[in-house]
Amino acid sequence: MQATPSDVSEPSQQSTRPTAPTEQGISTTSVHAGEARQKSINSITDPVVLASTFTFENTQALIDFVENREDRSEYGRYGAPGEQVVERKLAALEGAEDAVLYASGMAALAGVLNSMLASGDEIVFFDECYHRSREYCRTYLSKFGVVTKEVKTGDYDAMEAAITPNTKLLVSESPTNPQMSVIDLDRFAAIGKQHGVTTIIDATLATPFNISPIAHGIDLVMHSATKYMGGHNDLLAGVVLGSKELLDPIRKLRGVMGPVTTPHNCYLLQRGLKTFGLRMKQHNENGMAVARYLEDHPRVERVWYPGLESHPYHEIAKETMRGYGGLITFSVKDADWKQTAAVVDRAKLARIAPSLGGVETLIEQPLVMSYFEFTPEQRVEFGIEDNMIRLACGIEDSADIIADLEQCLAE
Ligand SMILES: Cc1ncc(COP(=O)(O)O)c(C=O)c1O
Repeated sequence: MQATPSDVSEPSQQSTRPTAPTEQGISTTSVHAGEARQKSINSITDPVVLASTFTFENTQALIDFVENREDRSEYGRYGAPGEQVVERKLAALEGAEDAVLYASGMAALAGVLNSMLASGDEIVFFDECYHRSREYCRTYLSKFGVVTKEVKTGDYDAMEAAITPNTKLLVSESPTNPQMSVIDLDRFAAIGKQHGVTTIIDATLATPFNISPIAHGIDLVMHSATKYMGGHNDLLAGVVLGSKELLDPIRKLRGVMGPVTTPHNCYLLQRGLKTFGLRMKQHNENGMAVARYLEDHPRVERVWYPGLESHPYHEIAKETMRGYGGLITFSVKDADWKQTAAVVDRAKLARIAPSLGGVETLIEQPLVMSYFEFTPEQRVEFGIEDNMIRLACGIEDSADIIADLEQCLAE
């Protein structure tokens, strides 16, 4: 059985995009995958095990564990029962062999980079990647001799030209944020394979509900599970997914460094994932409805949403995505940054906050929220316009989100 996400996202009949990778429907997978049918103390939910260490009955039990005859927990930094359930569930959703869970999305990315890169190695980013990801490489990994290159998002020739014998990793998001550019995953994967360079896609904005990078040949996928996967703006988590072979050293380093998720957080994430399919369907429907509304609004200059025919990456989006998510960026016509801020400040339903993917609709002006410390020239370079607003649609009724925007844009 294949997943059948929202058809409000207007999939093309001829689309070659892969279906969701799970054998069961995506909602069935979200609810059941990774969990034992019968759990300890007969509870239907997995118990939250608040233990930093795990005991051994005797020395022979310890030897059985050390010699890999016994699959069990030893110490929280190396893995915990609740964490393993969530990792199995996320791997099933992604169609990946394995998953490594982290305390945040940034910890997941840093875990991959620290494990894969050494002094003299190079990494190439598409330049619309999350600015903290690029900052981590440019400011911190550079201290250890790692060289970071950035090329224009979607310029595959430039990416290829940036590859040298020292290049170890090609990185992009899809879609990017806030421009919502969508990557041609087949092409990205092919460049990596041709040059023997590992590819990683940060698919936080799409989730496995909407894209399947591994089915396109991408080596590693990562998500900030803080967003749609947790889904309730109440936890931080991150995950990296791919083959066991690639993930084994990454997992080992996590065990050394310790950026693990707490048992309580794991439980919240597992619980959030139970409604993943339902929530994503609603995020996709709201995103499409609100993007169409904004596109027709006389005070709106431009809307960036890959589900709209007007988006420069719409054709690639139709080929690679099953739905387009809840994040929309738009610009206010003839408005300077203060007039744009006034539109944001009139919101009554949407809350002013960073992040996305939770049940509550959030609104922000990227210039103020994330790029205030940068010069106007740098903002132009990043594609951040003064009159941009980023709206992360929650799962409320789209009519109510639209009514809120109507009064925001009324004056
Ligand atoms: C696309 C993307 N990747 C990674 C991250 C980092 O995730 P976290 O905040 O969970 O560390 C974010 C968060 O803002 C993001 O938007």
